[in-house]
Amino acid sequence: MHPDWIVEHLRVRIDRKSAETLSRQLYRLLREAIRSAQLRSGTALPATRQLASALALGRNTVLAAYDQLLAEGYLDSKQGSGTFVSSIFEHHRAQQTPPRAHASLSRRGEALAAVSKLPVGLHGAFAPGMPEIRQFPHELWQRLQQQHARSSPPDWWHYQQEGGLRQLREAIADYAQLSRSVRCGADQVLVLQGAQQAMELTARLLADQGDTAWMEDPGYSGAQAAFMAAGMDITPVSVDEQGLNPQTAPAGSQPRLIYITPSHQYPSGVVMTLERRLQLLQLAEEKDCWIMEDDYDSEFRYDTQPLASLQGLASSERVIYLGTFSKVMYPALRLAYLIVPEALVDSFRSAYARLYREGGYALQSALAAFMEQGHFARHIRRMRELYRIRQQLLRHTLRQQLGDSLPLSSGEAGMHLVAKLPAHIDDDSLSRHAAEHGLWLRPLSRHYLGDHSQPGLVLGYAGVDDADIPESSRKLARLLERHQP
Ligand SMILES: Cc1ncc(COP(=O)(O)O)c(C=O)c1O
Repeated sequence: MHPDWIVEHLRVRIDRKSAETLSRQLYRLLREAIRSAQLRSGTALPATRQLASALALGRNTVLAAYDQLLAEGYLDSKQGSGTFVSSIFEHHRAQQTPPRAHASLSRRGEALAAVSKLPVGLHGAFAPGMPEIRQFPHELWQRLQQQHARSSPPDWWHYQQEGGLRQLREAIADYAQLSRSVRCGADQVLVLQGAQQAMELTARLLADQGDTAWMEDPGYSGAQAAFMAAGMDITPVSVDEQGLNPQTAPAGSQPRLIYITPSHQYPSGVVMTLERRLQLLQLAEEKDCWIMEDDYDSEFRYDTQPLASLQGLASSERVIYLGTFSKVMYPALRLAYLIVPEALVDSFRSAYARLYREGGYALQSALAAFMEQGHFARHIRRMRELYRIRQQLLRHTLRQQLGDSLPLSSGEAGMHLVAKLPAHIDDDSLSRHAAEHGLWLRPLSRHYLGDHSQPGLVLGYAGVDDADIPESSRKLARLLERHQP
């Protein structure tokens, strides 16, 4: 602890009205801080004269407290260099068995922890979901951030409750209308700290404890965690070649929310057909429920134009549209947006400000400028071309190594491919084994939310250097050979 903090620690705790003498209080407060390891062994205490003046106490008061602590062995004094916390307690603590951590979670917490297994590797071949950050225009982005931080008006330093900086909401509304055919005005846009938060907020506002969320199976475990955290029950609904198939939902199941990734189903890559989209919109009317459309990577289609959003098709206001900057910019930016029906705008805005607080307007302003000045569109175009080439390279090298024995998902889109494995291969143990060789393979089976699962691998390529793809593919081929019976 820095000497200034020691002074502060004591200042707020000393009670001048107490019957306990000031020197006794000082002694007790310092002793407690040493025992609880807030003051660690070797920490220099302020000189008595300095502490007395900072706390407006008599020097003798401080001297008496220090003397007592020295006598009891809490402090050591070194001639000429001051008074220090002794090592007695550190030594004593090291001898003791550590207290057992109290890890009793709520039932909801237990369920959430069970589905929140973190992936082994977050970047490198073939960690999914990671964009190419080495080719991000870092200098330009730094410059914009500095410029917008410097010119922050005073009200950006206060609490906010606008649902995000107006300028950014306008840029997002323009972008979503133009590129995704979303029907919206800037008022319907809410800027949040990532898709995870957006999902949890939506579930909290639109569903009650125990309400059902239909989720694609296989599906996005991040959404599963967010809905569970908000107290929802998950009903997995299987995905076929047209997308989520509501006909396979349990008879009589009444969803409150249907979460889908229609532009590029996560993780299978299936694009939801128009027929299925219309069927789901109709079903939402009949069942009186909400649809959450997660459009997480629709920017990356390599053969055709991105498909128009489901939100834009809907004639009624039942769709909550979700977009994130994690893939088109970078994940640690933690910025995403919801586009909500007009009737929900006020509730979403005020609940967001209440539950999570908003701010970070300088960053939002820099992002708005990045979008308005054309850098955003340019970066997306460059990344689209890069990811197209990387996808081709991955397909090509895996085919060369493994022929047809590793079937890959079709579709010229996205940032990952899915490879299906034969039923006898345990993808979880393959993934653990691969991690020992520096290869990050996300098991497909982990994305299954129901009883049935298919082993496979989710292979991210977007953030993998072109030069690494062939060698990592060879490593993967060797590992697969070793996992054959
Ligand atoms: C389906 C899906 N939605 C959303 C996200 C992005 O989440 P966030 O904005 O919290 O980074 C991801 C990231 O992997 C994803 O796969």
